[in-house]
Amino acid sequence: MSQPALVAPLLSKDYLSVLDLSRTELEHVIALAAAMKRDRAAGRMGNQPLAGRHVALLFEKPSLRTRTTFMIAVRELGGDTVELPAGDAFGGREALADVARNLERWVSGVVVRTFGHARLAEFAAAAERLHVINALTDEEHPCQALADMLTLSERWGSLSSRTLTYVGDGNNVALSLAQAGVMLGLHVRVASPPGFALPASVVDACRRAAAPGASLELVADPAEAVDGADAVYTDVWTSMGQEQEASARNAAFGTYQVNEALMARARPGALFMHCLPAHRGQEVTDAVIDSPTSVVFDQAENRLHTQKALVALLMG
Ligand code: CP
Repeated sequence: MSQPALVAPLLSKDYLSVLDLSRTELEHVIALAAAMKRDRAAGRMGNQPLAGRHVALLFEKPSLRTRTTFMIAVRELGGDTVELPAGDAFGGREALADVARNLERWVSGVVVRTFGHARLAEFAAAAERLHVINALTDEEHPCQALADMLTLSERWGSLSSRTLTYVGDGNNVALSLAQAGVMLGLHVRVASPPGFALPASVVDACRRAAAPGASLELVADPAEAVDGADAVYTDVWTSMGQEQEASARNAAFGTYQVNEALMARARPGALFMHCLPAHRGQEVTDAVIDSPTSVVFDQAENRLHTQKALVALLMG
């Protein structure tokens, strides 16, 4: 099957949040990514909509998956990447808006991993021709959610009436996962310890964006949340930048580990998901992450295909 035509560019200039996409656009990104994945496996690299163009990568935090997959995605679309030292751009040497206005004279887009989401929004708003992609902020991780939705689509086809349970910190990964999940028809359950749940404003926004029949439910008890689930997802208890909270978090999350006993509450054959990197023996046991139903490396692979589709549709 050949790739769907790139005839429907995204309405939003930027991709800072899953909610920047309509449901139709989200479905289109996933469908294009699936087609690009098939074509790549067959040795058909497709057209090169970024030929002669550049995309800058600006990462203030470490990254294996996101950095690597954006570099490959841009190059396979015919473009080239420029890696900038994050301190040169975000280190206070000049106004953030001026950095964006410089970059838009040289590159088509910037992939940014930073701390505060508001700074990223300010950066994106400053340059009207520069496409900005959120490669993770403290609040959201929308590129991860694209790969997660492709991974589930590959396993299940339609996501409608399936239940995805996220166990752990109501962090950036959980937020973007919940947004994308409800937009594509999933029943999403999120189990977090007191004080670490998704904020009420996020829950309200997800419910407004939900497809008919989809739902988002916050559950305190992880076993109850996993009961009958089709997939169970977790993430690290301490995210980048929270290292000083690690011991308090380890105490709070102790009963939220995804282990074989917890997975036994899910449907037989339930998928295990993790955005990686994983802290084995902490939020997930080796037996679960290495089990036959673990799809964590499919998720990692699908970062490439979904980001390639996203870049093609935003900048192609
Ligand atoms: N999942 C994820 O974003 O991985 P990296 O931090 O390695 O990019």
